[in-house]
Amino acid sequence: MPYLEVKNVTKRFENQIALKSVSVEAEKGELVCILGPSGCGKTTLLRIIAGLESADSGSVVINGKDCTYLPPTKRNFGIVFQSYALFPNMTVKENILFGLRQKKELGKSEIENRAAEVLRLVGLYEHKNKYPLQLSGGQQQRTALARAIALSPVYLLLDEPLSALDAKVRAKLRGDICHIQRSLGITTIMVTHDQEEALTMSDRIIVMNNAVVEQVGTPREIYDKPLNPFVANFIGTINFYKVSGGIFAIRPEKIELTTRKEHYDHIAEIKRVEFKGALTRIYGQLPQQTEICVDVPSRRADEIGIKKNGMMFLKFPAEHTIKYSV
Ligand SMILES: Nc1ncnc2c1ncn2[C@@H]1O[C@H](COP(=O)(O)OP(=O)(O)OP(=O)(O)O)[C@@H](O)[C@H]1O
Ligand SMILES: [Mg+2]
Repeated sequence: MPYLEVKNVTKRFENQIALKSVSVEAEKGELVCILGPSGCGKTTLLRIIAGLESADSGSVVINGKDCTYLPPTKRNFGIVFQSYALFPNMTVKENILFGLRQKKELGKSEIENRAAEVLRLVGLYEHKNKYPLQLSGGQQQRTALARAIALSPVYLLLDEPLSALDAKVRAKLRGDICHIQRSLGITTIMVTHDQEEALTMSDRIIVMNNAVVEQVGTPREIYDKPLNPFVANFIGTINFYKVSGGIFAIRPEKIELTTRKEHYDHIAEIKRVEFKGALTRIYGQLPQQTEICVDVPSRRADEIGIKKNGMMFLKFPAEHTIKYSV
């Protein structure tokens, strides 16, 4: 039985439908990412799981218990928002103590110990006496994370926790969140519109678009077997092409570059060559005007002798082509 279950939730704001019969599940200890473009309903879904928003219909079941009408204070979750939402007039440590002190059953030394423990876990023990303004964005987000996990919640909700950070800090914190999530074994739902974040961090990904769930699967399943053109296009790069009525798709790295003498399926005119280090991305045009993009090891591009305005010979392995009915 899944640990967290959202069943057929529909939510409307005035004339706007934010969620259309959405169902989502997370197993205990899983990190599930909700991925989708802006406005597709990710935050609304997370807020309904938290009880910060009520569903028009459908239910939220946590650990076998129907929580649909339970107020947020009774749900036992930790939450981190895109903006850090720290108390600016409190130090890092005070920000964390604040929540702990609301728990009447915790003694003074227990509170101190717990604060020290989570500060170490997020790597902020040395910065505990600083105020939010004296911290970097990444450190502020770590503080928010420490505060969210301090009360040992049974599940963790993260709404684009990394989107305000620069690329390097983001990559580091990505790893840190995964490490903390795994070591606590805490069921986590993370919202993101960054496909790379979803692919690298998740046990499972829920792809949303226009208020509905388009696909649920492991990063590998979503990448290798996207159920429809939207998912295929939203995650990674993909080529679409038409053959005798059907629409087919293939990832750029699955196309093989070959020579005229070998077997090939298509000939394309080379329009642009992008050297990307280990890989070279070649943009070409098939005779039917279809644009095609191919990723090959740069070594292979050199061997074959790839040049702008030349021709390239391509193999589309059947096991890597995806067919979509029209
Ligand atoms: N309180 C509200 N009142 C009216 N409309 C709302 C409200 N909250 C959300 N919406 C609408 O519901 C839809 C889904 O919004 P939501 O915030 O869930 O999207 P999102 O996927 O989180 O987008 P983003 O990636 O930009 O954060 C949007 O069209 C939004 O305008
Ligand atoms: Mg949002």
